Amino acid sequence: MMRAAGLLALLALLTAAPSTQAADAADPAAEAKAFREFFVKKFPQVKLDDFVNGPYSMNEDMRRQWEEKEEFPPYQFALDAGKEMFSQPFKNGKTYADCFDNRGIGVRQTYPMFDATAGKVVTLELALNNCREANGEAPLSYVKDEMASLTAYMAFTSRGKAMDIKLPDDPRARAAFETGKQYFYTRRGQLNFSCASCHVQSPGERIRAEVLAPALGILNAMPIYRSEWSGMGTTSRRFTTCNSQIRGVPLEPQAEEYRDLEYYLSYVSNGLPVSGPGARP
Ligand code: HEC
Repeated sequence: MMRAAGLLALLALLTAAPSTQAADAADPAAEAKAFREFFVKKFPQVKLDDFVNGPYSMNEDMRRQWEEKEEFPPYQFALDAGKEMFSQPFKNGKTYADCFDNRGIGVRQTYPMFDATAGKVVTLELALNNCREANGEAPLSYVKDEMASLTAYMAFTSRGKAMDIKLPDDPRARAAFETGKQYFYTRRGQLNFSCASCHVQSPGERIRAEVLAPALGILNAMPIYRSEWSGMGTTSRRFTTCNSQIRGVPLEPQAEEYRDLEYYLSYVSNGLPVSGPGARP
């Protein structure tokens, strides 16, 4: 009941909301600038770097509760486990570090990246599984704890670093960006919502007990601990959850469109700091 009422109220709000200009910008750099300016203008009281704190950037009460929780962060367990896993050698003696620039330390802000050889977007989650497979190990589930632990550790080593997503001068990279953008603004599911309906037009609004995060910097805190999940969730888990919420059919984790979506969202959040792993109520 609560859920339906919340969504209906939101729907009413959306039909009245103007469409964002960010969707119409001409090239990716201009797009990112317009995207950032849209949020800065809409929320003049929020400091630019604070958008990465999702719902907490929108709501003072939630922020206070979160700041208290951060003294004993609920993602600590995952962080410790991730550090341990990261240093554990594979059966062939190699480690994750061998697959990454700077041995995987402080590189999270460069993902997702466009891989010119493969001609596709490689997210951090995909890069970790590629690394495993290249070393003869079975891939990990994209939505479960081990993947979240590894990405939590890698995010932690990048905390405070500005997102630095490159868009090479390659028509395939540009196409991936456009596909991601289109996915973000396309309405779907029985409720006929786009990602933007909630995270561009309605940040700060409530759905049930939750306060919607702004799309600017929305991936900077990933992976996140959520009480509702009683555990950690990866970017893949969040994307599929959001698609289910609008009674749509989620794609497979790390499907091409999800990777392009992550590329788009990360690129338009360039310059904002990595804050992961995050904790949500
Ligand atoms: C019906 C509204 C709705 C739609 C549509 C929606 N989401 Fe969400 N999303 C939520 C809610 C509720 C949460 C949890 C509260 C929050 O953090 O925003 C959330 C959280 C998130 C988060 C985590 C943010 C954080 O800081 O914790 C990400 C990332 C995200 N959504 C991405 C997406 C993407 C990408 C799409 C489109 C595929 C999408 N969402 C569509 C409602 C929605």
